[in-house]
Amino acid sequence: MVKLPEFLKTDCYVGGKWVAASSDKRLDVTDPATGDVLASVPRMGAEETDAAIAAAHAAFPDWSSRTAAERALVLQKWASLVRAHADDLARLMTQEQGKPFAESLGEIEYAASFLSWFAEEGRRLYGDIIPPHRNDARILVTRNPLGVVGGITPWNFPVAMVTRKAAPALAAGNCMVLKPAEATPLSALAVAALGEMAGLPAGVFNVVTGAREDAPAIGKALVDSPLVRKIGFTGSTAVGKQLMRDCAGDLTKISLELGGNAAFIVFDDADIEAALDGIQVCKFRNSGQTCIAANRILVQESIHDKFVAALSARARQIQVGHGLEKATEMGPLVDERGLEKVERLVADATDKGAKIHLGGKRHEAGGTYFQPTVMTGVSTEMDLAHEELFGPVAAISTFRDEQDAISMANDTPYGLAGYFYSRDVGRIFRVADALEVGIVGVNTGLISTEVAPFGGVKESGIGREGSKYGIDDWTELKYICLAGLGAAA
Ligand code: SIN
Repeated sequence: MVKLPEFLKTDCYVGGKWVAASSDKRLDVTDPATGDVLASVPRMGAEETDAAIAAAHAAFPDWSSRTAAERALVLQKWASLVRAHADDLARLMTQEQGKPFAESLGEIEYAASFLSWFAEEGRRLYGDIIPPHRNDARILVTRNPLGVVGGITPWNFPVAMVTRKAAPALAAGNCMVLKPAEATPLSALAVAALGEMAGLPAGVFNVVTGAREDAPAIGKALVDSPLVRKIGFTGSTAVGKQLMRDCAGDLTKISLELGGNAAFIVFDDADIEAALDGIQVCKFRNSGQTCIAANRILVQESIHDKFVAALSARARQIQVGHGLEKATEMGPLVDERGLEKVERLVADATDKGAKIHLGGKRHEAGGTYFQPTVMTGVSTEMDLAHEELFGPVAAISTFRDEQDAISMANDTPYGLAGYFYSRDVGRIFRVADALEVGIVGVNTGLISTEVAPFGGVKESGIGREGSKYGIDDWTELKYICLAGLGAAA
């Protein structure tokens, strides 16, 4: 058993205190690679969520009236502490989520980057002075915090998705109640502990944990409370749609970062080695469990066979194992449900004629490991052409020409990310324009950074996270008409 960090917290953080649930019900947190129980956390419900909302509401007047520079100091210190404890946080993340240690370390830096970035962006929440409609008036527009906000975050990026929401929300002067995913609450609690060490005042950031069965009650308490003015959610499209319907009751604002069905297009003029590097990242990173993973790989007919052979040779080399082993390049899937889904999608595709070139089964390591898989002949009749795979399966189809590739790529209700490889400058602009997505990777499979706007179109979501745009959704515009100034002399 690996040593867990000293700042490992197994109670929730509400109003600046570490608290258990009112019942003694607890949720075991396990290592997906071994099934070992790492720790347990409280199973909270509506009552505890209401207490967290009340704590955030009480903290709001002081936090929102501080200067942006004062709030930035706390966020910068929080970022430094996250970076200083990167090894421990990464080890914890690998144990509760399964991703390889190097990927966890990468995510910790990604998470810290949002704290640093939004500490600065909070200081640039500029308004406007608008030429007035009458001579005796001035029109001012200011950007103001909303009040209490909720964050609901997923297990695939247990720390970065927390800071990508909390950092802009807090930098703008809001106070947050966070509900992390049931599979990965320890990482979120550890980040809260570092926030406390950084000097976050009591109630500014609160964490309530719960099991899958508790999520509806926690979500409902957040959505129904008249004090909660906005929810930021990352997760499935089905849950996102339900939350949005629920938010309609009292018009709570909502931003949604939902599922994707990214196409990864390889044109015959592409640098093939670069495209293979790109797939390595955006197909096999986190065992394929990212919303921006290449769900459908579209390869131009003339290079298909060569490409499939090269990809299979590369994927065969991927070292599968426990994320804390040095050689590991790919860990397990997060749980049995995830594994069963991948199995179902692969079986459906092969039943309907897809051909397996590599893998296709549970990995011999057991547990929730799945083999790196390459399959061809994928068509729109197959479920994996429409559903998010969330597994290490490279599902390949062919296309004839540019128009064909664009039509295939856009043939989905989702629109988060899309990728393509080409060296033709004209084609690069045409295809980037034509893809119906929020994020386009051209000649790269790695598009995540704090400086760029992350988010989707169509059924992949509403709003953007990260970048200078990512703070907008956590603010409200106020127009002040300052009249009675007298006519110009
Ligand atoms: C996600 O998969 O939801 C986030 C991926 C990222 O930010 O890189």
